[in-house]
Amino acid sequence: MTQDELKQAVARAAVDYIAPRLDSRSIVGVGTGSTANYFIDYLAEYQSDFDGAVASSEATAERLKSHGIPVYDLNAVGEIEFYVDGADETNERLELIKGGGGALTREKIVAAVAKTFICIADESKKVDILGDFPLPVEVIPMARSHVGREIVKLGGDPVYREGFTTDNGNIIIDIHNLDISRPIVMEEKLNNVVGIVTNGLFARRPADLLLLGTSDGVRTIERKGV
Ligand code: 5RP
Repeated sequence: MTQDELKQAVARAAVDYIAPRLDSRSIVGVGTGSTANYFIDYLAEYQSDFDGAVASSEATAERLKSHGIPVYDLNAVGEIEFYVDGADETNERLELIKGGGGALTREKIVAAVAKTFICIADESKKVDILGDFPLPVEVIPMARSHVGREIVKLGGDPVYREGFTTDNGNIIIDIHNLDISRPIVMEEKLNNVVGIVTNGLFARRPADLLLLGTSDGVRTIERKGV
């Protein structure tokens, strides 16, 4: 199977998982990226079974709306039952690197609110130790140089993502060669750098369920302790 077919398979599996658990009041949190896009397309088949969605990016909001799915402001909804999103890397504990598409801040907010976070990813995303994929951080533009120097102190190599502005009007720095052997510790260190809005480590709030697309089918991996 191609990587694209694996993404389609996990998106379909996520819809199969949540559809029987939705009711007319349910709000679904929806992530960003190519895997999330497949999820949106399949979710649209069930749009009469739930109320609407909260989007993690403008692009996702547009795709949801193009299918006629109502998109709510997060502040207008009480509770989000499920958040479904892709990832750039996941480890065994379902700690993630996200933000390859630059939507990490809104993704982290929706994930924080959701009762259940379902990560959908093809098997190329599964790693033993996070960090081969450069870790994105969203940064207030005036803090770019300061944040770059702080990243170097943490042992990483900061690379400014040229020509990219987030939905929140900020920039992205991708951190190469960072030691992420202790994801929660690194997430907290980066949270403490003034000027970083959000870092792409989802370790303090990891996924609850991983649907991993493999050539042998979709594997369902529950986070231990959930
Ligand atoms: C966007 C993300 C995406 O979930 C991540 O980049 C994976 O994308 P794709 O599904 O296209 O492989 O974090 O900010």
